[in-house]
Amino acid sequence: MASSPKILAYPHRHLLGIEGLSVGEISCILDKSDQYVAQNRRADKKVDLLHGRTIINLFFEDSTRTRTSFELAGKRLSADVINMSVGTSSVNKGETLIDTASTLNAMHPEVLVVRAGLSGAVQLLAEKVNCAVINAGDGSHEHPTQALLDALTIKRRRGTLQGLKIAICGDILHSRVARSNIYLLVTMGAQVRLVAPMTLIPSGAKNLGVKIFHNMKEGLNGCDIVMMLRLQNERMHGNFFPSIREYFHFFGLDYEKLSVAKPDALIMHPGPANRGVEIDSEVADDYSRSVIREQVEMGVAVRMACLDILSRNLQRELMEAKA
Ligand code: NCD
Repeated sequence: MASSPKILAYPHRHLLGIEGLSVGEISCILDKSDQYVAQNRRADKKVDLLHGRTIINLFFEDSTRTRTSFELAGKRLSADVINMSVGTSSVNKGETLIDTASTLNAMHPEVLVVRAGLSGAVQLLAEKVNCAVINAGDGSHEHPTQALLDALTIKRRRGTLQGLKIAICGDILHSRVARSNIYLLVTMGAQVRLVAPMTLIPSGAKNLGVKIFHNMKEGLNGCDIVMMLRLQNERMHGNFFPSIREYFHFFGLDYEKLSVAKPDALIMHPGPANRGVEIDSEVADDYSRSVIREQVEMGVAVRMACLDILSRNLQRELMEAKA
């Protein structure tokens, strides 16, 4: 029997996580993002697609890259973009996350982009509103657009994700970036390795289709991609390693540890990077190896693709409901 063609479509209303997405759904977003990379390199970066539409960025946690990237993405598609951060909202006066979301929902936005400190909070919020919701990071759960932009960066450099050896190193336990990347990369056929001290590997990680290492040189051996993660101190309750100095000695990426990876292995980091903690400053700035700036560029394109796809889906839903 002939195999059925891969359907490239993303049929959902929201983007809450990578877990459960198919190869076709992930590829649909990556392919659309690729088109936006080209557009973003032109002098005139703006298209009319979301003219008259409203996007609200609702951030209950700090963010530089992700918030500006979503803002720019919305503006390049001609949407009206409003940024709300918790410091200026009524949440400080005791309004709950759900109350804030329903207030914003009453203003008829097409998309709510939400970052929240609690894992699962964005999913809960999505159940209470009529618009599309994008998870811009919920606690240590998921950060789907980060995993998509990482995948786009790798795919454009290497042509494919299939079969690549990718090491994700550092604070896996508290990292939503790691979790979303694991789901995406395993689904797309990469060989994923987690490299971290025993205390920073989540229980149950071995059931995710990854290999686990507690030694950088063993974990990085022969890798195509080395992805470093920040120590998420704000999510740590207790002592997970003896000292920063010792952590850098054993798990910080320097040229010595990198020497066992493939000679052209790419270095990635979602930012913000802590130099001298998880990555040596010279390595982070070595643009013959580090694609950290490219990740930021891909971020805008991926967010444009997500806003594009979800707005179209919502429009279709509304038309079908009217018919
Ligand atoms: C990440 C995040 O917020 O989860 N940063 C980002 O989105 N660029 C990673 C981190 O904070 O370490």
